[in-house]
Amino acid sequence: MLPSVSVRVPASTANLGPGFDCLGLALDLYNTVTLAAATVTEVVVSGEGDGWIPETPANLVLRAASELTRRAGLPVPGWRLVQHNDIPLARGLGSSSAAIVGGLLAADRLLGLDTPTQELLDLATEMEGHPDNVAPALLGGLTVCAREDDRTLCVSLPAPENLVVAVAIPEFEVSTEQAREALPEAYPRADAVYNVSHACLALAALVRGRYDLLGQAMRDRLHQPYRVPLVPGMGEVIEAALAAGAYGAALSGSGPTVAAFCSDEDPALAEAMRRAFAHEGVRAQVKWLRPAGGAEVIG
Ligand code: HSE
Repeated sequence: MLPSVSVRVPASTANLGPGFDCLGLALDLYNTVTLAAATVTEVVVSGEGDGWIPETPANLVLRAASELTRRAGLPVPGWRLVQHNDIPLARGLGSSSAAIVGGLLAADRLLGLDTPTQELLDLATEMEGHPDNVAPALLGGLTVCAREDDRTLCVSLPAPENLVVAVAIPEFEVSTEQAREALPEAYPRADAVYNVSHACLALAALVRGRYDLLGQAMRDRLHQPYRVPLVPGMGEVIEAALAAGAYGAALSGSGPTVAAFCSDEDPALAEAMRRAFAHEGVRAQVKWLRPAGGAEVIG
């Protein structure tokens, strides 16, 4: 039996409202990848994306594994990949970041590369295009990122305590590419100031447990208003969650999932979010998740 490495990678919710391309939080919903070198590439996918995730070298986990191998100056082998996904695809819960981080970490351990975490983060960001899902997927907890040239400067803070997250996941998908194309090139200074101040306030509120501030601190003017046409009911679902007692709520990443930060699992709140989507003709399921640690080698 050839050696293999198994890695478990968490989902993530990015932006947290105003922290566009900056703030992210790891959540306890996972994808698992098991990677080995092989003479001929073979991929087995189960769970979310089974049937349409490529079972070829175009598979994102394998593209990440191969890229890291190439950059280490090693020949890229064939791969055997077994991938089980619990993170739904293209819903704003960091599934592509989980695939990238899974591929990088598995290849790193399998080939004994010992790549510094900073380099893994930089490569993952380059592949994903923004850091706010790959950082929590890799490092866990609440992550704060800034880009400087090709570097992702990042601090991972401990997961906020006494917080559960209701994620209302619509049936339909939104590609991040499409959701980024919906954004303007430039913003009025008032909107920039609004977001800088709200992002800092949201972060401080999360760190200091001032969850009472989140309802206002998680408001955003940089991306959510422009994504409403892609996510019918977004504003209503956020309002429904707040009215039902959530501390704060926002579009999860580029959507279409809406994430509500709450004190406890409350079926009435979940139902309020589901119904607000249903009112717009959107079917959604609600899952309760908790803040989580980062990617782990599990075998
Ligand atoms: N910050 C990214 C965006 C997250 O909002 O486009 C994508 O999940």
